[in-house]
Amino acid sequence: MLESHLQQATLPVNLAQKASLIEQQWSPRVVAEMNDYQFKVVRIEGEFIWHSHPETDEAFLVLEGTLRIDLPQGCVHVNQGELYVVPRGVMHRTAAQGEAKLMMIEPRGILNTGHEDDERTALNNVWI
Ligand code: NI
Repeated sequence: MLESHLQQATLPVNLAQKASLIEQQWSPRVVAEMNDYQFKVVRIEGEFIWHSHPETDEAFLVLEGTLRIDLPQGCVHVNQGELYVVPRGVMHRTAAQGEAKLMMIEPRGILNTGHEDDERTALNNVWI
């Protein structure tokens, strides 16, 4: 972690390059921090589980591919270069047909599955 912080101080972050280093899909990796917020990249394919984050909004920026976000009122398709913010407390499920690479912005300590106790909860706070 110290090493990553040193890197952060000296080098710009190439989001696509960072995403390509991630070995497993659905495993968010931290690439930078701003105050108590983290910027994470992730590779996804298929469907995640329904969950919410009662304590925070959650932002998704699509780096590559198309992200579908299922919401209670329907779904939104977020294309490369587009941003979508899921409001605090709103149930959502991310999905992608084929692989999508994303950046997520959220406070440090937020679990990918919200408060759902699921086998798909990823290790938190892992830098790449
Ligand atoms: Ni979420």
